[in-house]
Amino acid sequence: MNTQLRENIHWVGYVDWSVRDFHGYNTNRGATYNAYLLQDEKTALIDTVKGLYLDHLLDNIRQHTPLEKIDYIICNHSEHDHSSSLPRVLAACPQAVVVCDQKCREFLKMQYDISEWNFQIVKTGDTLTLGKRTLQFMETPMVHWPDSMFTYVVEEKLLFSMDAFGQHFASSHRFDDEVDLPTVMAEAKTYYANIVMLYGKQIAKVLEQAARLEIEMIAPSHGVIWRSHIAEIVAAYQEWVVCQAKPKVVVLYDSMWGSTKRMAEAITQGAALEGVEAKLISVRAAGITEVATEVLDAGAIAFGSATLNMGMMPMMSAALTYLKGLHPVGKAGIAFGSYGWGKGATEDLQAWLQSTEIEILGEPLKCKFRPNREVLAECETIGRQLAEKARELAAR
Ligand code: FEO
Repeated sequence: MNTQLRENIHWVGYVDWSVRDFHGYNTNRGATYNAYLLQDEKTALIDTVKGLYLDHLLDNIRQHTPLEKIDYIICNHSEHDHSSSLPRVLAACPQAVVVCDQKCREFLKMQYDISEWNFQIVKTGDTLTLGKRTLQFMETPMVHWPDSMFTYVVEEKLLFSMDAFGQHFASSHRFDDEVDLPTVMAEAKTYYANIVMLYGKQIAKVLEQAARLEIEMIAPSHGVIWRSHIAEIVAAYQEWVVCQAKPKVVVLYDSMWGSTKRMAEAITQGAALEGVEAKLISVRAAGITEVATEVLDAGAIAFGSATLNMGMMPMMSAALTYLKGLHPVGKAGIAFGSYGWGKGATEDLQAWLQSTEIEILGEPLKCKFRPNREVLAECETIGRQLAEKARELAAR
């Protein structure tokens, strides 16, 4: 495996081939926790890895240098996947100084016993000279936590971008031009939708700041390193930060005995007849990760649920709780669903829509028991209306 980014700059992280659940995010292609070693007159470790994989990190570092040689550990973000091995890394190299921003120090203090740690607190614009190389720091709050920071190696035009531009993607390769680009772009989209969609405004600001830097390589804390397709990933981020809609309709549903599913199919058919991309997703079968990913670039969304216990189906409720937290913007939507002797699901869906910024396209379409031909025709009409709205939003 080629782990060299530049002369004396190496990836020393861990490839987690088997992880399939990253705090609820379905990581079908595994993940990586990236850490990097910069050797100059001084030696710096950029981030650490999830605590379980401490030994791998230390072994990877030892291939290049003894642990005692590490002078600085740059902590760009204190979330567990990057910091939970830090206490034991510091125990192995106690002379190392932790370099981070003030917020990161606060967060580390609330997670670990830092009483014996030496810190150097930095802020945007501060630099740290390692010898021939200079590290320049940029605070990037909410990308992904308030403590987050980018580290830029001035002489190498190399940006360590923490969670930004990451992907949960296990591979024996470390660089974007060594793997299948459509696959890695799809994983970058899934990562954006599920981890940072909520912070689009802050990320847009960071993109503006980063545009002032000359960048030849972006090394995120997850997935492959961007060196040949920087323009593609930055262009994709520029669309994702505003949840730019495509002419695309997504129909999300959960059904009990097939009636709501039948309605969902008819809505999807109506949208497809208008020539837009139309996706039918059973939230129970697909799971929340796919739901968030497909909503990111949808223009219009139909939300359907059968009634269970006077409310919506539980997996629909879970998906909507998740989506609300991710705060998709620039979308339009409508509720639908079948019920039997008790109502409640479409009322719940409508109330949820009213609690979001999603533009509501009309009253919910309700159906008592099985949808007849007239109801299905109505569903198809709604599908066509959603398609028209998706086109309109995509043109903005
Ligand atoms: Fe990869 Fe926000 O941690």
